Amino acid sequence: MFDAQKIKSDFPVLQQVVHGDKPLVYLDTAASSQKPQVVIDALNRIDSAVYANVHRGAHWLSDKSTALYEAARDCVTTFIGAQSSHEIVFTQGTTAGINLVARSWSENNISAGDEIILTQLEHHSNIVPWQQVAQRSGAVIRWANITDDGQIDIEHYTSLLNEKTKVVAFTMCSNVLGSITPTAEIITAAHAVDAVVMVDAAQAVSHQNIDVQQLDADFLAFSAHKMLGPSGIGILYGKQSLLESMPPFLGGGSMIDVVTQDDFKLAALPAKFEAGTPPISPVLAFPTAIDYIQNLGLDSISQHIGSLVKLTHQLFSEIPQAKIYGPSPDQKSGIVSFTIDGVHPHDLTHALDNQGVAIRAGHHCAMPLHQRLGIPASARASFYIYNTAEDVRALATAVKKAISLFC
Ligand SMILES: Cc1ncc(COP(=O)(O)O)c(C=O)c1O
Repeated sequence: MFDAQKIKSDFPVLQQVVHGDKPLVYLDTAASSQKPQVVIDALNRIDSAVYANVHRGAHWLSDKSTALYEAARDCVTTFIGAQSSHEIVFTQGTTAGINLVARSWSENNISAGDEIILTQLEHHSNIVPWQQVAQRSGAVIRWANITDDGQIDIEHYTSLLNEKTKVVAFTMCSNVLGSITPTAEIITAAHAVDAVVMVDAAQAVSHQNIDVQQLDADFLAFSAHKMLGPSGIGILYGKQSLLESMPPFLGGGSMIDVVTQDDFKLAALPAKFEAGTPPISPVLAFPTAIDYIQNLGLDSISQHIGSLVKLTHQLFSEIPQAKIYGPSPDQKSGIVSFTIDGVHPHDLTHALDNQGVAIRAGHHCAMPLHQRLGIPASARASFYIYNTAEDVRALATAVKKAISLFC
């Protein structure tokens, strides 16, 4: 039995009242999730007991820290079903992972006239790096349309694929509409024309089972801070053969084997892509967040957030001014973006915040998607394991109150 109220008690941040006396209703997990006490404790324990730089020292503490750093890599390897821990690169986050691929893989694989396919669902992190590649190389970006209910138009996507397609970069789950995309189908079609796929799993990894081998993903990126972990770290998965073929992205310490005055010799994977001192404590604490999620079970998490989204749709259907964008509840994650007739999303968010309800307003780093929807901005509520039906009711009540203030 999934007990969100009990789960919520594991999250100290969520026990607060805000603006004097309003219990905090946190509906902004799509921006960043909160940390359970066990993750906070793990960070404290690491900094109090085992912290030292990794892969460098010849002393007890550094050995301990290095062993835990590599254990974290092994944990992620298993979590996403990678073949080897050499395929797991610690990055700063999803954005850094995508930029690494766009810079490094594209250097020897994309030239003028080649085509890069993106979808209208993408976050700027999976758009701008590819626009930069196109600007540098003369490659062309082709956009896969979405349908009116916010799903990738698969027919249109497949019609774009051809022998010039070198990359298909797409999200597993929209950070605005919550749409869950048919990842396996998109990858199979891309591979049929020998294109490489970059999967943005930032919004998917917290509630969808991911098996990179089963999906046959070439590259896949995500961030720890959207799955109960610390901010400042993320994962780039890449097939070993691809990562081995790529030049390093950043140069510096750790990514070399030998340096002379004239030259350098690269370190083996994955160190080749981990120049400089990494965010050590966040990496070491990350397995605790993964364990917490796995103990609850991704299927149960997905069912729980699905029920909250369904309730939101139901309660919003009783608010005539409300319009929800995107697919029906059964085809999306825990994200509901909406507008309210007569109330700007930013004003709405402020009004809700005054009632203790934390949502987000704006373009959510997805301006092309908002252009496609024909709106400059939207309000977004996003749910996770610590949200309850009561939180959804608080949202609906706060929206009604805001309408009565503004309209
Ligand atoms: C779908 C998607 N991709 C990429 C990102 C970027 O993640 P980060 O800021 O952790 O690099 C986000 C963040 O909101 C996202 O939602």
